[in-house]
Amino acid sequence: MDISADAPQVLYQGAELSGYDAVIPRIGASHTFYGTAVVRQFEMSGVYSAIDSQAIMRSRDKLRCLQILTRSGVDLPVTGFAHSIKDIDRLIDLVGGPPLVVKLIEGTQGNGVILAETRSAACAVIEAFRQLDANILVQEFIEEAGGADIRCLVVGRKVIASMKRQAPPGEFRSNLHQGAVGFQVAITPEERLTAIKAARAVGLRIAGVDLLRSRRGPLVMEVNSSPGLEGIEAVTRIDIASRIITYVEQQVLHQQSKRSNKISITEEKETPRGFIG
Ligand SMILES: Nc1ncnc2c1ncn2[C@@H]1O[C@H](COP(=O)(O)OP(=O)(O)OP(=O)(O)O)[C@@H](O)[C@H]1O
Ligand SMILES: [Mg+2]
Repeated sequence: MDISADAPQVLYQGAELSGYDAVIPRIGASHTFYGTAVVRQFEMSGVYSAIDSQAIMRSRDKLRCLQILTRSGVDLPVTGFAHSIKDIDRLIDLVGGPPLVVKLIEGTQGNGVILAETRSAACAVIEAFRQLDANILVQEFIEEAGGADIRCLVVGRKVIASMKRQAPPGEFRSNLHQGAVGFQVAITPEERLTAIKAARAVGLRIAGVDLLRSRRGPLVMEVNSSPGLEGIEAVTRIDIASRIITYVEQQVLHQQSKRSNKISITEEKETPRGFIG
């Protein structure tokens, strides 16, 4: 990347990239720092990015993401975070006591998500993680979700596909990597609204929003800025990638027409008036 102010550009194998209107960031969890820097560089060069670099950063920090969602009035499982081991008992009480879920903030694909069924198990797990200096969230366990969650794929202001992921018997984590199976599912209007609201709150035009079906309605567990497409496309038979490209094309055209309108308005203003007649 050439980050000089007058002509920011992105180089690939030494050659300047050119002749494109938009980029669709797909940033793996382990490349957030470098990936968002590249996206930012495109943004600075005036290229349309389907996903905002800031929004990727927001969604990658689980704690920050949950704080933003609550502030925007999106319902979540009751969640606690503490730094000191001294606060364990208060933390457990805050989420309504056991059973509860302990989550490594840095975990993915279900790794580092633990169900503690008793207070002593919860204390032991939290202490062990804290001794390793790992940051964790403690969360109310939504038992009635029955080991399933709903992945909603948001594009623009619509949920274009949704899938239910069901954990195998004896498992509460519905990650496909943990052996869960995906099914097509019809979502309720409330679930649809919640998913759209969550994506908007984080600032993502394209997002995978994970919901838990609870007694008090849909609860958002996570908002993903680079959602996997393979699984949900196979289950729903919707060509999501094409829908995303169509959306990006519309957005770019809209942006370009807005820009050319602005230019013609400015030109009009700059024309001296009042000299004739
Ligand atoms: N509070 C909860 N109550 C019930 N089930 C939960 C709860 N939190 C998580 N789960 C289950 O555990 C699974 C994994 O949790 P979560 O999505 O938070 O972590 P992860 O999948 O490891 O992280 P990432 O989605 O970033 O890869 C969820 O898909 C859900 O099935
Ligand atoms: Mg998950």
